Amino acid sequence: MKKLYIETYGCQMNVADTEVIFSILLKAGYERTLSMDEADVIMANTCSIRDNAEQRIWGRIREFSVQKKRRGEVLVGIVGCMAERLKESLLKSGEVDFVAGPDAYRHLPELIAAVRPDSPQIDVLLSRDETYADINPVRTDTNGVSAFISIMRGCNNVCSYCVVPYTRGVERSRDPKTIVREACDVFSRGYKEVTLLGQNVDSYRYGDVSFADLLAMVADVSPELRVRFATSHPKDISDELIAVMASRENICRHIHLPVQSGSDRMLEKMRRRYTREWYLERVAAIRRAMPDCGLTTDVIAGFCSETEEDHADTLSLMDEVGFDWAFMFAYSERPGTLAARKYPDDVPPEVKTRRLNEIIELQGRKGLESYRHEIGRTHRVLVEGPSKRDPSQLCGRTGSNKMCVFPAGGHKCGDYVDVVVRDCTSATLICELTI
Ligand code: SAH
Ligand code: SF4
Ligand code: F3S
Repeated sequence: MKKLYIETYGCQMNVADTEVIFSILLKAGYERTLSMDEADVIMANTCSIRDNAEQRIWGRIREFSVQKKRRGEVLVGIVGCMAERLKESLLKSGEVDFVAGPDAYRHLPELIAAVRPDSPQIDVLLSRDETYADINPVRTDTNGVSAFISIMRGCNNVCSYCVVPYTRGVERSRDPKTIVREACDVFSRGYKEVTLLGQNVDSYRYGDVSFADLLAMVADVSPELRVRFATSHPKDISDELIAVMASRENICRHIHLPVQSGSDRMLEKMRRRYTREWYLERVAAIRRAMPDCGLTTDVIAGFCSETEEDHADTLSLMDEVGFDWAFMFAYSERPGTLAARKYPDDVPPEVKTRRLNEIIELQGRKGLESYRHEIGRTHRVLVEGPSKRDPSQLCGRTGSNKMCVFPAGGHKCGDYVDVVVRDCTSATLICELTI
């Protein structure tokens, strides 16, 4: 049996896709290995979202080629978003044997079988209907508690800075029956949490099933199954969805709602299709229905033509909302996107870095504030495993997605445990078990 090793980069969608790839290739007779040194086939499932994500993959390709030189027979494959973006040019390095885009995974067995030393293989066709709905992913998580379920693929939004619509193609939703079946399957195998994944889950639609309907269907699999989802788009997050979340205890009260900027001028240029006011109103609606709802976001610093005033608007929005956590990035121009074609990337790197640092510094304070707020409160957490810092303790998240550490007290992975928060850092709640 040939041994297959896959490294996964980028977002949760890629983690879910790697599980689909394993499913397809294990069925075709491969065996999974966790060690690159013994692999016959080495793959990287890649990300193109920022230039540094791609630079990292080029570094890995050089590492893989060391393996090839040392052991001869090894095949190297680049799949995922960078494969889709760079296509044939990935083959020019001479180090890559096959390239497959996100919609080509069903053909991987034949593609790999067709590779010859002088004939690398490539399949980067995007599809209008591929959702891998019938494929039961091979779970790659280590704790057997939390599973990703991909509910849609692609994106139709075309935010001007973003490469995803080019690497993942048009949006398509997966048949809800197959999603519910997958949720039942993981639950019957002991999983206690599923995360429904899509680039913009609020635009999920299959026939007359909306995302709010789907969420209710999945939540109704069992009250013992927690349900999460990502990512929500501020322009689409509906009152109906907020109502469904508020109506079911097992839908986790956490929304990842990327704002990107607090300036209307920037939001317009980014083609986000909402305003600052709209965003703040959505946050208010969420908090009216669920005062304890966790809120996290993504922010881009230094987008094309961003002024100090625009930047100050981002800071003031973050100050006003008080996110629990944020992913914060300096703008990275992606070739072929609307922004790359239309707007010069004109904020100097040192200004981007300074603004990003101000954003990070503010978020550090606001995050700590929101964590401190939890001191004295009780939460039901789902045990995910031993704490990384102190293996004698356990860790798990609150519904609002805050990480907790607490004494083991005889509990194990997959148990629900009630804890009371005693102290915190800016990323962890330090808890005791309630009696
Ligand atoms: N579909 C999700 C986000 C996917 S990409 C959404 O719409 O919110 C994840 C994050 O990467 C984005 O939210 C954005 O903050 C960041 N990002 C995307 N393109 C970027 C670029 N060109 N430069 C810097 N950050 C970028
Ligand atoms: Fe990119 Fe916008 Fe689609 Fe998110 S919604 S993946 S940021 S184009
Ligand atoms: Fe990256 Fe593709 Fe996800 S570009 S962020 S792996 S959709």
